[in-house]
Amino acid sequence: MSHFPLPRPARIAVMASGRGSNLEALLKAFPHDNPLGHIVLVISDKREALALQKAVEAQVEAEYVPWPKSRDQGVAYKTGREQFERVAGQLLHEHRIDLILLAGFMRLLSPAFVQAWQGRILNIHPSLLPQFPGLNAQRQALEAGVSESGCTVHFVDAGMDTGPIILQRRVPVLPGDTEETLAARILEQEHLAYPEAVRRVLQGRV
Ligand code: GAR
Repeated sequence: MSHFPLPRPARIAVMASGRGSNLEALLKAFPHDNPLGHIVLVISDKREALALQKAVEAQVEAEYVPWPKSRDQGVAYKTGREQFERVAGQLLHEHRIDLILLAGFMRLLSPAFVQAWQGRILNIHPSLLPQFPGLNAQRQALEAGVSESGCTVHFVDAGMDTGPIILQRRVPVLPGDTEETLAARILEQEHLAYPEAVRRVLQGRV
């Protein structure tokens, strides 16, 4: 069953752990006056994430939600993930979020969380999935010696970088490529792919 299209602009949350260049592309594509949907909340598990600054600059609510290591855990929580998901879940509820976009969010959410948001949570990954899931996808591509790589936007399920694919954009792997040059070439495509995939989802075209 599809949750989209909605009869009103969708309320979107982005979760990001780092630099936030995909967040920036999404903020540009879904500003407050976009009738399809707009980003109203950015959550990061890293206090120092540039993504939080970018949200503040765009006048979007930015929340740091800790994902504590086991040694920092309070007695109220069994795991850092449980604590993160409880606080993030509350924020998502308070902001009446319709769609979550993971944009460089470097954590694995629990099967229960993902199940609760099934069909309403997307991720972007810097490879042509199912090739090269997990960390260092660009390095994996170079080590495998493939002639082509790219990025994938997909619905999130309980696996790591699995879940139904919405769209992919391809780039060549060139002789002499380093992890950095390949990552930059893929990133350019990510910034086009993610807004396009979100548009398709919100329009109910997926
Ligand atoms: C992007 O390349 C994204 O695809 C990747 O992290 C980078 C985040 O960049 N995500 C993953 O590897 C998730 N498995 P950004 O913070 O500039 O958007």
